[in-house]
Amino acid sequence: MAANRTLTIIKPDAFGAGKAGKIIAHLEAGGFRVVAARVMRLSTAQAGEFYAVHKGRPFYGELVEFMTSGECMPMILEKADAVLALRDAIGATDPAQAAEGTVRKLYAESKGRNAIHASDSDENAARESRFFFAEADCVRG
Ligand code: RTP
Ligand code: MG
Repeated sequence: MAANRTLTIIKPDAFGAGKAGKIIAHLEAGGFRVVAARVMRLSTAQAGEFYAVHKGRPFYGELVEFMTSGECMPMILEKADAVLALRDAIGATDPAQAAEGTVRKLYAESKGRNAIHASDSDENAARESRFFFAEADCVRG
């Protein structure tokens, strides 16, 4: 059975532009519940580790630079079949390709500065959630 929690990050472009409230409202209207949240600025080491799967890709340096360029907002969200539901809700990586009504269509600037991250598997959602939060940081039940 698919897990009911996933990890998201409102990225520095959207957080810095004051779009966090609108994005959270949009996700809540879509049935997601926020069960953990924080505001922080990632260090280069943290951003590099978080996106280590992309090490060696041509956009990796730019991605780490962007993710450390300002505050971001990691959150754990809850909904049935959370990983797939959130990937649907955020839309394609490139906002030009994202479906109408998705977070990236509504709030992203470009493929690089694309407003929001979402875990791509239950395994990565669990790993990424532990990266930012302890059990005690989450709503229980
Ligand atoms: P994310 O991990 O942030 O949720 O994004 P994603 O799954 O939709 O896309 P992924 O392939 O995992 O890429 C991670 C992030 O790297 C940046 N990127 N830039 N300029 C480019 O060609 C390019 N490709 C990827 C984006 O910020 C993307 O979200
Ligand atoms: Mg990804």
